[in-house]
Amino acid sequence: MRKRIVAGNWKMNLTLAEGKNLVEAIVAQLPALTDTREVVIAPPFTHITQTAAQLEEYAHISVGAQNCSSEAGGAFTGEVSATMLQSAGVGSVILGHSERREYFNETSELLVKKIAQAFNQNLRVIFCCGEPLSVRDANEQNNFVGKQIEEALFHLSAEEMNQIVIAYEPIWAIGTGRTATSAQAQEMHAYIRSMLQNKYGNDIAQKTSILYGGSCNAQNAAELFSCADIDGGLIGGAALKSEAFLAIISAMMSA
Ligand code: PGA
Repeated sequence: MRKRIVAGNWKMNLTLAEGKNLVEAIVAQLPALTDTREVVIAPPFTHITQTAAQLEEYAHISVGAQNCSSEAGGAFTGEVSATMLQSAGVGSVILGHSERREYFNETSELLVKKIAQAFNQNLRVIFCCGEPLSVRDANEQNNFVGKQIEEALFHLSAEEMNQIVIAYEPIWAIGTGRTATSAQAQEMHAYIRSMLQNKYGNDIAQKTSILYGGSCNAQNAAELFSCADIDGGLIGGAALKSEAFLAIISAMMSA
C-alpha cells in the first residue's frame, strides 16, 4: 500500500519562537502515525534544527526542507546544500515549487541538478508540478504538467523514482482560496499515475504517492483525500495553524 502523506510547507513565515509553539501544539495532539500515514513539516532553513529536535522522539513525522542548492558545496553565498540538510536531520526536500519556478527562475534543467544533489544525500524529493490558470483555461494542463514531469524526472531510474513523491499544485489554487475540485484534482492525479505506469510500469506507478496542493484546508481535505489517486496533501496556509493542520492530518488518517 502506498504512503499517505501530509506535508506542511511553512514558506517564509513564522519566527523561531512561533515555529516552536506551532510544532509543540501539533505533536501534543498528533494521532498515531504508521508506515503508511506520514507527516512532514517543512519550515524555513533557520528553523530546521529546532524542528528536527522537537520531532526526534516521534515516529513517522519528520522535518523537510523547502529547497536545496543545485551545487554540492563551496563558494555559493546564500545557498544551502543537500549535505547540510542531511546533517541537520532533514528527510525530504520540496523541489520545483511554483514559487521557486516563478520568482527564482527555476527551470527543469536546474531541478535535475537539485534532485541529483538530494539523492546523493539520500533525501526524498517532494517534486512539485502544476499549471497556471491560462493553461487550465486552454485545457492544456495535461501537456503542461506532463512536460514538467518528463523534463525533470524521466531520466531517473526506477529505484530513484521510488524516492520521489509528486505534489500536483495547480498555480491558480495556491494561496488563492480557490481549490481545484476533487474531480479536477483526481483527473490530473490519474493522468500523472498513467504517465508513471507507461514509463516505469505498474509497480512504481502504484507505489508513488501523489499529493494535492493548493488551498487544501480543514474543510476540503477529507473529500480530496477520498479520491482514488490523491494520497495526501502539500499544505501551505493551513499548515501555519495547529488546529487546521491537525484536522488535515486527521482527514488523512481516516482516508
Ligand atoms: P496553500 O499553498 O495551501 O497556501 O495554497 C500550498 C503550497 O504552495 O504548497
